[in-house]
Amino acid sequence: MTLTGGHAIGLEAPYDHQVPPSLLPPPSGHPGKPPPPRALGLRNDVYRRPLEVALDRVGIARGWKVADIGAGQGDVSVALAEMVGREGRVYAVDSDPAARDEVARAAAARSQVVAITQVVEDLRLPELVDLVFCRFLLLHVTSPALAVDRMAQATRPGRFLVAQEPITSAGRVGGRPLSMPHARHPDVGSLLPALVRDAGLELVDSWAEAPAWAGRGPVGSYLASLTGVHPGDEPVVLAPLVTVVGRRPEAGQAPQ
Ligand SMILES: C[S@@+](CC[C@H](N)C(=O)[O-])C[C@H]1O[C@@H](n2cnc3c(N)ncnc32)[C@H](O)[C@@H]1O
Repeated sequence: MTLTGGHAIGLEAPYDHQVPPSLLPPPSGHPGKPPPPRALGLRNDVYRRPLEVALDRVGIARGWKVADIGAGQGDVSVALAEMVGREGRVYAVDSDPAARDEVARAAAARSQVVAITQVVEDLRLPELVDLVFCRFLLLHVTSPALAVDRMAQATRPGRFLVAQEPITSAGRVGGRPLSMPHARHPDVGSLLPALVRDAGLELVDSWAEAPAWAGRGPVGSYLASLTGVHPGDEPVVLAPLVTVVGRRPEAGQAPQ
């Protein structure tokens, strides 16, 4: 991500490692209310709330088989592993062999996590799964439509695909748009509902959400971790993340 006229960087995992959890705001939208019961173990992830909402929406539970595509360092894979328990399974898939080592390290104590080196365009899992998940993946692939199609095919009939992708240019720092010159499709989030529908899935839910802040806090620190420059007192709206929850129709059933 680059601030327009600013500093070239790559968008990596959306984590703020520099801010102690005590400085993090409560999940907003519910001022004063305690965090929701689903503790994701991703307290420093500024995009954790849309993830929690999406997982609640599909009703993820113990025993589920799930796949985290473009798993990166595996933080989400580990959080998913805690939710599905030892009787479940998490396939953590990434095209980068180094990611497999990272995931293996992060999930060392969780035997239900299986790290696989594979490109999403050739996705072949050992079994159909209850949930295929991706976040910040489609902006990097050559063909988002092909990638969504492969993920849809990996989903068990009647079960779910959750995709979360940004609209980078809708983010702002001091009122100026964000850009990400190194990503192939930095605004792919704006196409996501149609991509999921066109892959033959039923749209269950879809929305966009962006962390926003001014001054000291996790949002500015996250941006600083990406750009190397802290926005200071400038107001920041991070790239809105479009979440789409899709469901693969049961065999012989047309998408609604
Ligand atoms: C920005 S990271 C996202 C990490 C993680 N999903 C998260 O939200 O924290 C993108 C990841 O996608 C992987 N990736 C990029 N192109 C891919 C492809 N064609 N197939 C599978 N993984 C890919 C990269 O290696 C990288 O680890």
